[in-house]
Amino acid sequence: MRRHLLEAADLDLGDATLVLDTAAQIDAALAGREVKKLPTLRGRTVVNLFYEDSTRTRISFELAAKRLSADVINFSAKGSSVSKGESLKDTAQTLEAMGSDAIVIRHGASGAPHRLAQWVRGSVVNAGDGTHEHPTQALLDAYTIRRRLGRLDGVRVVLVGDVLHSRVARSNVGLLHTLGADVTVVAPPTLLPVGVGSWPVTVSYDLDTVLPKADVVMMLRVQGERMNASFFPSAREYSRRYGLDARRMALLPDDTIVMHPGPMNRGMEIAAEVADSVRSTIVEQVGNGVSVRMAVLYLLLGGAPEGSS
Ligand code: NCD
Repeated sequence: MRRHLLEAADLDLGDATLVLDTAAQIDAALAGREVKKLPTLRGRTVVNLFYEDSTRTRISFELAAKRLSADVINFSAKGSSVSKGESLKDTAQTLEAMGSDAIVIRHGASGAPHRLAQWVRGSVVNAGDGTHEHPTQALLDAYTIRRRLGRLDGVRVVLVGDVLHSRVARSNVGLLHTLGADVTVVAPPTLLPVGVGSWPVTVSYDLDTVLPKADVVMMLRVQGERMNASFFPSAREYSRRYGLDARRMALLPDDTIVMHPGPMNRGMEIAAEVADSVRSTIVEQVGNGVSVRMAVLYLLLGGAPEGSS
């Protein structure tokens, strides 16, 4: 493993498999235990540096670090000296002076974690940067698929929706490709990035024709907050063409699972009855996120004191 986890491309097949296997071992070790805590990162410090809103990712990283017995500092830009104009570099140096071993960063600017990695000695984990990447989300998604379907190689994954603004889509395409899955993206042409032609995916504009062949359907949130123009005629029109409702769900093979990274726009990209159906792994994904992030922190920090490896 490299020192940082900044994007899906930081993981080759061996690394990605190691993270998933480690998460499975952690799950097995903690299953049925009353005290869900391992002593592995005792004495290490993990800083959660969140410049953008987050519910599940921030809580998930916090819980993951705590379950490994690390000291955890939660820093959100609101209420800190960032609102006085302090730069990312100064903030990073301050945190490092206080002895942080790993910084988990979410930032609105694509590339911010890469910059940070140049300034600090500890590990940097990207928890979502702009529209760029969100590698631990892709890892938890891959973990969920492997647990449900028993494999990743050759699995047919259909990714649907706002691919243009989705760091979840970028990381998933990269990681799923590394893991041997076969990815199709479905979106309105206005919500596909210009460079999609060079991605290792098949592109389709017709959801109904791809659903009968899918093993996994991954729905993406329509990211209203990143849209500075009109990308589709209306919410109703979007969900009619690209939303997953009960009628479309009926087109899926029996064992196909439905995923969503959350937060959902119920009634827009996904109908409530689909989100709450037995096919849905949405709640499971959240739970798996903690195990996968424990695996990432464990592998990056090694559990060993600085300088020993
Ligand atoms: C995603 C994110 O923030 O990138 N959420 C998450 O981390 N589970 C997806 C989204 O906001 O749509």
